Amino acid sequence: MPMLQSIRWENGIVYILDQRLLPEKIEYLKCTHYEEIARAIENLAIRGAPAIGIAAAFSVAVTSYKSQALSGKKLLNELKTVFQRLIKTRPTAVNIKWAVERMKSLIINNLNLSVSKLKELIVEEALKIHQEDIEINRTIGEYSLPLFKDGCTVMTYCNAGSLATGGFGTATAGMYLAKQKGIKFKVIACETRPLLQGARITVFELSEAGIDVTLIADNTAGVLLTKDMVDFVIVGTDRTVQNGDVANKIGTYSLAVLSKENKIPFYIAAPTSSIDLSIPSGNMIPIEERSSDEVTTIRGVRIAPQGVKVINLAFDVTPSKYVTAIITEKGVFLPKHIKYINSDDKLQKLRVRL
Ligand code: MRU
Repeated sequence: MPMLQSIRWENGIVYILDQRLLPEKIEYLKCTHYEEIARAIENLAIRGAPAIGIAAAFSVAVTSYKSQALSGKKLLNELKTVFQRLIKTRPTAVNIKWAVERMKSLIINNLNLSVSKLKELIVEEALKIHQEDIEINRTIGEYSLPLFKDGCTVMTYCNAGSLATGGFGTATAGMYLAKQKGIKFKVIACETRPLLQGARITVFELSEAGIDVTLIADNTAGVLLTKDMVDFVIVGTDRTVQNGDVANKIGTYSLAVLSKENKIPFYIAAPTSSIDLSIPSGNMIPIEERSSDEVTTIRGVRIAPQGVKVINLAFDVTPSKYVTAIITEKGVFLPKHIKYINSDDKLQKLRVRL
């Protein structure tokens, strides 16, 4: 079972596990102001689409908790700055926008309440978003479980694990449940340059949970896929759009193409909070660009000549034709059917069995 929680709320304080320090140090940031949380999102102390959605909800909660506003309207006004700040932190994962919209509509729909009652509701809603994510992770795990057969090997990329979410992770949820059921399987984790989320975080959390995990350099993945050493690949997503294209950590696209070339199934595990039906196609997803230092240095040590030109895209888009299926808390779907994710009646017929 996952050993650590990425984020928690305790009496108006948001504790964030500082993932930049993993695996060497386990330290929590203690945040009492939304700006501290916004910075933690930007500098990747907390990362992973669902986890930053939860952090955004807690930013709204922490501001409301301390607010001196005398009416719901004044509170909403105060929170507008918070909403704007959060949306600017990281552009690719849609979960921040999703959480902000959800918190905002809760407030707008309850402006008639006393301000103290409204503040209570806001904190409850943020806690609910966290709790729901834990349950969603478990359900994604249950839907993924049939993929795990005794003796199988699964490859994953970046960290779509417990530390990227509230609970069991998305790509890792099936791994935790399979382990609980005594299924014998192996995981191959790609290191995930430039920030090494695979090496530092996925390997850390899986080995802490007693899961058999092997680390590879990213450029080893291709050859393993040609050698019958991987049964399937499973990763997370920061934003999946109407036509089933998925944005995820830079390098996911290469892995998906190599998987298809070698007839290895390539799965996406995603909560519906990462699905954005307002965007028709993957080429319209905003892609975050980050500092060149992340490429020219590794954990503070320079590895490239000073002043070299750098391209540092944090995410890429995998066209839906490379995705075998998308595993959500509502079931497993072909990418072309993701556009029906909000039509519950249609979904019944479109579910895929793994
Ligand atoms: O830059 P990061 O570490 O936030 O990138 C994380 C990923 O790409 C994850 O795969 C994605 O957010 C899904 S997490 C369930």
